[in-house]
Amino acid sequence: MKKIRKAVLPVAGLGTRFLPATKAIPKEMLPVVDRPLIQHVVDEAREAGIEHFIFVTGRNKAVIEDHFDRQYELEVTLTERRRFADLEHLERDLPVPGQTSFTRQQSPLGLGHAVWCARDIIGEEPFALLLPDVLVQAERGCLGQMMDAYREINEPANVIAVEEMAPERLHEYGVVGAGRTVGKAFEITSMVEKPARGKAPSSLIITGRYILQPEIFQFLETQSWGMGGEIQLTDAMIRLALSQPFYGVKFEGRAFDCGSKIGFLVANIAYALARPDIGPKLRKNLEEILRE
Ligand code: UTP
Repeated sequence: MKKIRKAVLPVAGLGTRFLPATKAIPKEMLPVVDRPLIQHVVDEAREAGIEHFIFVTGRNKAVIEDHFDRQYELEVTLTERRRFADLEHLERDLPVPGQTSFTRQQSPLGLGHAVWCARDIIGEEPFALLLPDVLVQAERGCLGQMMDAYREINEPANVIAVEEMAPERLHEYGVVGAGRTVGKAFEITSMVEKPARGKAPSSLIITGRYILQPEIFQFLETQSWGMGGEIQLTDAMIRLALSQPFYGVKFEGRAFDCGSKIGFLVANIAYALARPDIGPKLRKNLEEILRE
């Protein structure tokens, strides 16, 4: 079975739910504590063994490329001030030269279209797809857990991370139907994007992490406009599922939808509380605020 070496990170969306913050700053650069969202997701992919990061960017997203490059003046200043620990942190986050690619989605025509923009860089390999506005706080990263399940499945299959959602919110998400269990995964028997109320096949929603076979590109190529006038990834996956197996992985950990204001704020609190340097102080402050 081919190793999964490459990950696609679509970052071309407009982030309209965060206006005006995202007028000049990409949503993916908003910090959760002191690391941009996109850095958290790259960390997770790296931990799972990903070697090459493909960013699908758009206009006003150049700072994402800068973030993954050296900042020469900063490095000189930190050296002069003998702030070696900060320097070391910056160095650790730098991708290996030649292991990032940036391609442009000229218009935000949907997630499916953004993924399709990476087809030439991916080639004929299975790949990971991580949506940077979903963060998963877990002991072993979500993609790492999916990789473990993928190895157990041991056939060219597609794998989707799923989580339980309250019945009254299922209509906002992509929902999968669950079949037979296979190791840490289960067979996906159906997929629906934003099902009508009461019509969802289960309470398991698609959560922003995927392992996909390269055949997905053939379906994205011919995919017609879907919900919201966008090329939807789920529509192409539904067609691919007629000829290739799909599995779901109920990951261990807590997911935050950082594309929404509440999810983003809660993620900041959860990640900060987990940090030994600021967690205890923040807890005290929060307790004070809640008492008032
Ligand atoms: P979202 O739909 O959550 O992001 O897409 P958005 O469109 O930027 O946000 P709102 O709804 O306007 O606030 C999930 C991910 O897919 C990327 C986004 O950048 C985000 O990381 N995306 C979405 C693209 O790269 N291209 C698209 O056409 C749409």
